Amino acid sequence: MTAEASTQALIERRARLLGPNVSTFYDDPVHIVRGEGVWLWDAAGRKYLDCYNNVPHVGHCNPRVVEAIHAQASTLNTHTRYLHEGMLDYIERLTATMDESLSTAILTCTGSEANDIALRMAEGATGKRGIIATDATYHGNTALVSQLSRSNVPELGFGLEQFFRFIPAPDSYRNPDPDAASLVAALEREIAALEADGTGFAALLICPMFLNEGFPDIPDGWLKPVAEVVRKAGGVLICDEVQSGFGRTGTHFWAHQKLDAVPDIVTMGKPMANGHPVGAVVTTPEMMATFRTGFRYFNTFGGNPVSCAAAMAVLDEMDAADLMTNAATVGAYARTQMEGLAQKHTAIGNVRGMGLVFGAEMVLDHAAKTPATAFTDRVINAMRERGILLSKLGRHRNTLKIRPPMPFSMANVDHLISTLDEVLAQTPLEP
Ligand SMILES: Cc1ncc(COP(=O)(O)O)c(C=O)c1O
Repeated sequence: MTAEASTQALIERRARLLGPNVSTFYDDPVHIVRGEGVWLWDAAGRKYLDCYNNVPHVGHCNPRVVEAIHAQASTLNTHTRYLHEGMLDYIERLTATMDESLSTAILTCTGSEANDIALRMAEGATGKRGIIATDATYHGNTALVSQLSRSNVPELGFGLEQFFRFIPAPDSYRNPDPDAASLVAALEREIAALEADGTGFAALLICPMFLNEGFPDIPDGWLKPVAEVVRKAGGVLICDEVQSGFGRTGTHFWAHQKLDAVPDIVTMGKPMANGHPVGAVVTTPEMMATFRTGFRYFNTFGGNPVSCAAAMAVLDEMDAADLMTNAATVGAYARTQMEGLAQKHTAIGNVRGMGLVFGAEMVLDHAAKTPATAFTDRVINAMRERGILLSKLGRHRNTLKIRPPMPFSMANVDHLISTLDEVLAQTPLEP
């Protein structure tokens, strides 16, 4: 079978076995069979530079993580109703990266589960149910958490929508809000509305980098006034660090630290165990005690010894290879190079990024900043054809999403930028 025929056969099997509306990336989907470091190989042996995947945080198939999984899986794997040091050692090491008030944790299998628990913790702590989030976000897929994604079919969802309210996500390109004044005003309005309709305000849940919403440029300290409003209203601040955590900003282990706020609850997942399914909710002992008393929580797979060994190996590898420093150095270089491209290609309206999350917003014109969404699609597909994997995000789906494994190098940046330069030169802005 040719490579094209085998790709087509896989697409047809997926449609038959998974049902409709299951997305794949790219007009010509990629059939990946192997990974190593920042590289992926398809079934035909073609090599791709991975500029997209943040889950293989310390590199695809990292030997230290693979060995830790193998060693623990060959010794014991069971659940958390038996005593085991693995989970406790990991939670001690994880919470040592945060403010000392955040010293207890629940380990889960996904970021969605972690956010689901966080919302229930907020209800337990406040006795109220009103949740505020930003309006173009994604926080996961449980019945409760999926209410936060406004792309779902509005009439479905167990009638929970009364408990959720939305404020505009920051957009530093179109509506700069450097001191968070407009976000604070919107937050105060929605808190008042929740209190007035009897729901009451329980929590603000945000990704501190607003990563799915286009990672706006926001200054250090930006979250402080936001946290003050939440606390004054008796609510809980939940930071979803599923994407922004584990040193990705390059300057801080957690994005909320860069923004100078201490949340009541931090949730995480994706990069935590390099692809082994591990997530977590970290909170204060008081918040945890209220939750544990109010809800009997058990997670069959969450916190199992193999997951903890994988997660611990990620922290070891980050230290051994100094990956946070790498994110700072390589990320700064990437942003400068991307700004260089913006001088040459008028389709680039704005360059943004912190550490190893960076990208450019594509526009049809600089005056009105009209989103060039279809153009962005063509660029991403042309990059894929040239062996570079990236994607797009943001409210207008017109921002390049570049968020590679943390061992990404200067040479990788050069390869990415020179290919993007060619693609931008060859892709027509209007088809
Ligand atoms: C910010 C954020 N939170 C939560 C989630 C959900 O995590 P999971 O897919 O592990 O359930 C995602 C997934 O994309 C995410 O981007």
